[in-house]
Amino acid sequence: MKTQLTNDVEYCAKLLQNGQNIAIPTETVYGLAGIITNVKALKRIFSLKQRPQNNPLIVHIYELNQLDPLTTHVPKKAKQLAEVFWPGPLSMVFPKSNLVNQVISAGLETVAVRMPNHSLTLALLKAVGTPIAAPSANPFTRISPTQAQHVLTYFNQKIPAILDGGSCQVGLESTIVGFDQEQPIIYRKGGISQESIEEIIGPVQVAKSDSAIKSPGMHLKHYSPTTRLILTEDIAAEIEQQSFHHQKIGVISFSNCNYEKAEVVKVLSKTANLTEAAQQLYQTLHELDQLQLDLIITKFLPNHGLGASINDRLQRAKFQ
Ligand code: TXA
Ligand code: MG
Repeated sequence: MKTQLTNDVEYCAKLLQNGQNIAIPTETVYGLAGIITNVKALKRIFSLKQRPQNNPLIVHIYELNQLDPLTTHVPKKAKQLAEVFWPGPLSMVFPKSNLVNQVISAGLETVAVRMPNHSLTLALLKAVGTPIAAPSANPFTRISPTQAQHVLTYFNQKIPAILDGGSCQVGLESTIVGFDQEQPIIYRKGGISQESIEEIIGPVQVAKSDSAIKSPGMHLKHYSPTTRLILTEDIAAEIEQQSFHHQKIGVISFSNCNYEKAEVVKVLSKTANLTEAAQQLYQTLHELDQLQLDLIITKFLPNHGLGASINDRLQRAKFQ
């Protein structure tokens, strides 16, 4: 099967309606999509990604009218968040209706829903007319794709089309918020900071990353390059130690820095801007992973705003 890079929304809508899987752009990362009414298409998402069956999928919608049939209850705080952040990098978990197949919810009684902020995919969702399930378009545990080319590297000849929407503007997956008796809980940090959410609905708890029952996708190992990644407090000292062993080293630096003994230094944001750093993170990991380095050295970013989401991904990327 030849994989086409295309921006033909109508063509992609037909493929989805026919039960095929395609990759779609969103503002966070590219997704591997299947229409929610076709069980075969949903199951194929799991096999293409080699994703464990107990890891549920996010359902994507283009307007609020598509939410009601998917759920039996929308908490008041969820409505407030939807009003402010949709379309955008926020997924919310609701009690699911019967319309949501067990394959999507992976046996849970809930469903995660989001309205992505990408004009091509909003047009696609409208053309299809039925919501679409889409996890990130990467094999299980690998780095998420933020460009059509990344998806092609992973799934060439395995899917008929990639809807090419350019580079993802946010560059980190959506923040996932669930509700326990109306109380909001962040299950996954992501493209909207905890602070921004709290500005709208007040204090929010963050689920411990090992609370595997509520968010089965939060595996410790995730988003990993194949090159060894070292997280250190002191990049210069780590380079000094590692270069002694003649290692070919790549560095990911938050802001401008010079490390002479490194083979390559990638700066996430020259102006030390967390939004820009988030947008660059996966792209940078993809690039460094292709350079046949012995290791990649990096350091946590300031742990506030999107910095906390980036640090979550760095922490998981380090498990190899
Ligand atoms: O930004 C995103 O959210 C991207 C784009 C494509 O929309 N999608 C994405 O999907 O990151 P995925 O499958 O890679 O991650 C989905 C996460 C998983 O950790 C999964 O466990 C969690 O969402 N999830 C899905 N349904 C859930 C539910 N009912 N309850 C709790 N967590 C859920
Ligand atoms: Mg993912």
